[in-house]
Amino acid sequence: MLRTTRILPVFLLFLTPLITLAQATVSLNPSDEAPVIDKNIYGHFAEHLGRCIYDGLYVGEKSNIPNTEGVRNDIINALKDLKIPNLRWPGGCFADTYHWKDGVGPQSERPTIVNTWWGNVTEDNSFGTHNFLNLCEELGAEPYLAGNVGSGEVQELADWVQYVNFDGISPMSDWRKENGREKPWGVKYWGVGNEAWGCGGNMRVEYYADIYRKYATFMSDAGLEGGLYKIASGASNDDYHWTEVLMRDIPHNLLQGVALHHYSVIDWNAKGPSVGFSEDQYFKTMEQAWLMEELITKHVEIMDKYDPKGKVDLIVDEWGGWYDVMEDTNPGFLFQQNTMRDAMIAGMTLNIFHNHARRVKMANLAQVVNVLQAVILTEGEKMILTPTYHVMKMYNVHQDAQLIPIELNTPDFEFNGEKLPAVNASASKDAAGKVHISLVNIDSKKSNTVSVAVGALKLKDISATILTSKTLEDHNTFESPEKIQPEQFKKFKLKNGTLEVELPPFSVVVLEAN
Ligand code: AHR
Repeated sequence: MLRTTRILPVFLLFLTPLITLAQATVSLNPSDEAPVIDKNIYGHFAEHLGRCIYDGLYVGEKSNIPNTEGVRNDIINALKDLKIPNLRWPGGCFADTYHWKDGVGPQSERPTIVNTWWGNVTEDNSFGTHNFLNLCEELGAEPYLAGNVGSGEVQELADWVQYVNFDGISPMSDWRKENGREKPWGVKYWGVGNEAWGCGGNMRVEYYADIYRKYATFMSDAGLEGGLYKIASGASNDDYHWTEVLMRDIPHNLLQGVALHHYSVIDWNAKGPSVGFSEDQYFKTMEQAWLMEELITKHVEIMDKYDPKGKVDLIVDEWGGWYDVMEDTNPGFLFQQNTMRDAMIAGMTLNIFHNHARRVKMANLAQVVNVLQAVILTEGEKMILTPTYHVMKMYNVHQDAQLIPIELNTPDFEFNGEKLPAVNASASKDAAGKVHISLVNIDSKKSNTVSVAVGALKLKDISATILTSKTLEDHNTFESPEKIQPEQFKKFKLKNGTLEVELPPFSVVVLEAN
């Protein structure tokens, strides 16, 4: 069966059986009205969880591993290459237990904290606000601070804003200076709590909306030009009531973004392994990843109802694949491998975000190092880049480019009588006039040919990169760190305004044209 993202004209319906045999089709429909793909869609997330911060990003200044203020240089370089636009910290669930004042000042005087959400490990608070914000500065990434609303006071969050943003004389800015930082960092993005419906306080949305109003009111921008960008803790998956109440009950002058969390998890009680998964588990993961399309569409419909001018953005600040932890690792540390299945999730999800660029202005993959669908894994002094890293790097050409709306018809990926769209795609034109087309074939067995009707676009000097491998569960390891690498791709040809691309099974291709 052929799928289409728009309703097919009647004459095409008659052709459906023929097209089924043939291929996927994409038509590119450039428009001056099309939105820009906000680079912040390529954001990441670093929580105090397992080996993300400690023994991940942060090894401490005394480590033998080359570092800058305790953060591994190899990771800094890899993230710079990735062009990460923003980084969310310190959680996640951890955020609503975190008291930022415990993480500033002389390290030897900092109290410890027990990480109650993630393994009950005791942390020494050696990685704190200065470390994080200096890291963001080094990376050229915007910091996105998640404030503690669950167990923190309003004043505590207001103080944090003043500490990092105020340039004048005040108790908090003076304290920052005492702690070695003269100029404020200027933090724009602030989460007002995290998962308020769960680990952030098990609140009802009606209650949280009031709490949000209160916290957001006292978070003065502390003189930050342009003001703070405040993000409400959003819905889990298809909790549309949550979005409805936030949009209805929070005055929009207090609200710049509404979050959404969706993980590609098969079943919270039987997540399955990250490597050694079955064909069935692969299909179900793809089903969950594809669900993002429906979730965004429906949450946006609600946002459109309350905010037709589109002032409040949708921020998908947690997404990615979630599986069982690797054998012999701490169950609370959420350490998993990253295979071609994850590359499929990444390629597909980014295509979905691009195509919803009108409302989706930021997203954060969970998480950046050693946790869940990480782009980087470390072991001692070794570091590897995962297939997800490679997809995000191949795709970063879309950052801040203008979306080219597409119409897509695709064959199905069928398994056990169930069906999913086999091919997904997105396209954009950057400021230099370069066109990029990203194509993903999630079918585990079949190649798919995609015919791209380029319309009025005059494409020339076309080149392409592919990420694929022999088996779906292939992955990079510390012994074989470059098993999966993007490669030059040549299986395409442009003829009479149609670009024919042959996508192998489970592959991601990015084409570039002048
Ligand atoms: O990313 C791991 C956890 O998933 C986060 O801490 C929480 O917000 C979500 O439930």
